[in-house]
Amino acid sequence: MCGIVGYTGTRQASDVLLTGLSRLEYRGYDSAGIAVQHDGAMQVICRTGRVAELRSSVEAVGAPGRCGIGHTRWATHGRPSEANAHPHTSCDGRIAVVHNGIIENFAEIRERLADQGHDLRSQTDSEVVAHLIEEAYPRAAAADDGDALVRAVSETLGHLAGSYALAVICDDEPGTIVCARKDSPLVVGLAKDGAYVASDVVAVLDATRDVVMLADGQIACCRPDGIACCMMQGDALAAVEPRTTHIDWDLDVAEKTGYPDFMLKEIHEQPRVIRDTLAGRLVGNSIHIDELELTAEELNLIDRVYIIACGTSYHAGLIAKNLIEGWARIPCEVEVASEFRYRDPIITPTTLVVAVSQSGETADTLAAIRDARVKGARVFGITNVIGSPVAREADGVIYTKANKEIAVASTKSFLGQVVSLTLLALVLAQAKGKMTSGHIRQLYTELANTAELVEQILADTEAIDEAARACTDAASALFIGRGMGAAVAHEGALKLKEISYLHAESYAAGEMKHGPIALIDEGFPVIAIATHSPVYDKVVSNLQEARARGAMIVAIATQDDEDISAHADHVIRIPKVRDAFSPIVASVPLQLFARSVALARGCDVDQPRNLAKSVTVE
Ligand code: G6P
Repeated sequence: MCGIVGYTGTRQASDVLLTGLSRLEYRGYDSAGIAVQHDGAMQVICRTGRVAELRSSVEAVGAPGRCGIGHTRWATHGRPSEANAHPHTSCDGRIAVVHNGIIENFAEIRERLADQGHDLRSQTDSEVVAHLIEEAYPRAAAADDGDALVRAVSETLGHLAGSYALAVICDDEPGTIVCARKDSPLVVGLAKDGAYVASDVVAVLDATRDVVMLADGQIACCRPDGIACCMMQGDALAAVEPRTTHIDWDLDVAEKTGYPDFMLKEIHEQPRVIRDTLAGRLVGNSIHIDELELTAEELNLIDRVYIIACGTSYHAGLIAKNLIEGWARIPCEVEVASEFRYRDPIITPTTLVVAVSQSGETADTLAAIRDARVKGARVFGITNVIGSPVAREADGVIYTKANKEIAVASTKSFLGQVVSLTLLALVLAQAKGKMTSGHIRQLYTELANTAELVEQILADTEAIDEAARACTDAASALFIGRGMGAAVAHEGALKLKEISYLHAESYAAGEMKHGPIALIDEGFPVIAIATHSPVYDKVVSNLQEARARGAMIVAIATQDDEDISAHADHVIRIPKVRDAFSPIVASVPLQLFARSVALARGCDVDQPRNLAKSVTVE
């Protein structure tokens, strides 16, 4: 949510900033801006809309200089406008700030600053930071130790409540960028030609693979020849050694590599994600997740599992509930993190809380983790981002091996989560003695085989595209399924509404007659997950009920299902797998279906309106 970049070095800063912003655009894209220092003066250019608009303006006016900061915004306080776009500047225009997060006490600070005569020009919470630094800077400069901006920033942080990643430049210290973070990610990349600052490593990958992931509470002072880090200790600043992490991702993660959009590229990466997530997990006849940091005895004691997550990750949790209860016989509840954190769930030391988050920085999921730990639960994270807050704050973590996901609507991360949660269910079943080792090996082999089955689905999408064409002009659609199919239906509906803006609802098929059936009239699309399962006949009865009322049925069914054509207008066939693994193969055509509908409706599938990839605010 919001992307930050910064650069100080020997290159033209505006080039670096605009390239970085375009890589971070998935984090927010309602407005963007840069501030660049040149000849002792600050030039700020902000535009509403996408980074491409900002680029045109920068190219038109020119923005020389070798040090600057930039931002791409997802509006929280104040609508998208040039005045609300970052960077924000102090009254004298000599200090510029970009911010990601929420300053919770901004209203009172703003009032105080206004009383002191500050001219606040935006409606944002972020602008107060520039003015607070402006207040603190003369005091900090009096110490005359060359670190005035660091000191002014650190004094300012003491006034802020909430979350932030910040990058600050000041005309009195040309070539210096001071960064700080609390609960919002920020990395500094170190290269021969200078120092790069970004919310996410994808923005610095073409310059360097060696990055410092700032820790909460750390302040970094970046100069062309390196960085110095410190932490607040009481009123003093204590130097800390920056810890460099080498990122071995391919730069391809940030490129479309010939695909028309990131979403399609990422959908096609799913077989690899399944293989990588499973690699090395079967040792002999047992599943190993050493990162769980729990002994077999501790696992055996677990008597309740909560899965907490948001959005698509929550749907991965719904799938896992069936597996954990079915295989390990442990009661498992799945809850959206924003509800969990404000309830008083029953948690004991034998409760395992599993937090699922692609980005590893979703504010509600993080808050739920903290709450669960305070209440004594063991917390396990499933995330896609190395070193993310979820990874750091959980007792143990599985990485989903999806690599960077750029399209806002999650696809490959979802599949990585489902596979990781399936492994977790197997480990729990193993620890509880509910499965023979032969059974575990058999399940693992079938799970691994889904990678090839997904490849088969991706090789022939004609039926999917045909069904999508039939639904393009619909006003609304209903997704139904039972058991595993209900969870798949929820994710299918979410995908469709996220990227095509077509209203879509999902229901457990048996619930249809308790309300949603009233919606159905001639031609109303009903997408039914009718895969091979113990409740197959029941789903077919439900879709017949819908069809009898005029619904146009799109059925997701298995290849060998000869009867389904009689009950559906469009059939999307997928390979037959056991029910436990059906979400893996059934979700893929629904991702492609949503994309096809969205493209036919003229939507931007990678950057849907109003959404952001990582939601770092409540
Ligand atoms: C946003 C994204 C979704 C994602 C959800 C949870 O809403 O647009 O794609 O599923 O956040 O994010 P997380 O990173 O915690 O999985």
